Amino acid sequence: MNTFQDFDAREFRNALGSFATGVTIITARAADGAPVGITANSFSSVSLDPPMVLWSLAKSARSLAVFEQAAHWAVHVLGAGQEALSARFARSGTDKFAGLDAGIGIAGLPLLEGCAARFQCQLAHVYEGGDHLIFVGRVLQFERSEQPPLAFHRGGYADIAPRAAARAA
Ligand SMILES: Cc1cc2nc3c(=O)[nH]c(=O)nc-3n(C[C@H](O)[C@H](O)[C@H](O)COP(=O)(O)O)c2cc1C
Repeated sequence: MNTFQDFDAREFRNALGSFATGVTIITARAADGAPVGITANSFSSVSLDPPMVLWSLAKSARSLAVFEQAAHWAVHVLGAGQEALSARFARSGTDKFAGLDAGIGIAGLPLLEGCAARFQCQLAHVYEGGDHLIFVGRVLQFERSEQPPLAFHRGGYADIAPRAAARAA
C-alpha cells in the first residue's frame, strides 16, 4: 500500500474511489417549477428511527441554488442497466429531463421510474462540508424493487454479483 501525505488531488480521488458505492440520482423542483437532478454516489443511510438519509453536493454544481432552497428531494437508487441515466444526470448544463417521462411525487418532486429503490425526503439539516454541502433528509415515503443495483468503483460503473453462498441461502 502506498502512503500519501501531500494530498495530491488525483491520488486522493483515486483512494476515495477504492470505496465501492451505489449510484443515485437526486431530484428536486425549482421555485419556477423546473425539475432538477444530479447523479450522486455520496448517498448514505443515516438513521432508522427516525428514517434519515444524506448526500452531498459540490458547491460548484449548477443546481446548488435549487437544492439550497428545496424543502424536499427524492433519491433514486439506480439499477444495473441504468448507466445511461446516470451519465445523463452527471452532464451539467443540459436539459436532463428532455424526453423523460418523469412522474410527480410529494410536494411536486420529479420522480424517475425503473430504479432499484426510491426515497422521497423532507430536508432536515444542511451542513458545511468543505467544498460540498451535506444534506440530511427525513424519509417520508419509499419504494424498492428486486432489480440488482448499479455500482461505482475506481471511477467506473460495475455490476454487483452476490457470492455463491449468498445465492444458495
Ligand atoms: C457516479 C457519479 C457520482 C457522482 N456523485 C456526485 C456527488 O455525490 N455529489 C456531487 O455534487 N456531484 C457528483 N457527481 C457529479 C455530478 O453528477 C455532476 O457534476 C453534475 O453534472 C452536476 O449537475 P449540475 O451542475 O447540473 O448541478 C457524480 C457523478 C458521477 C458520474
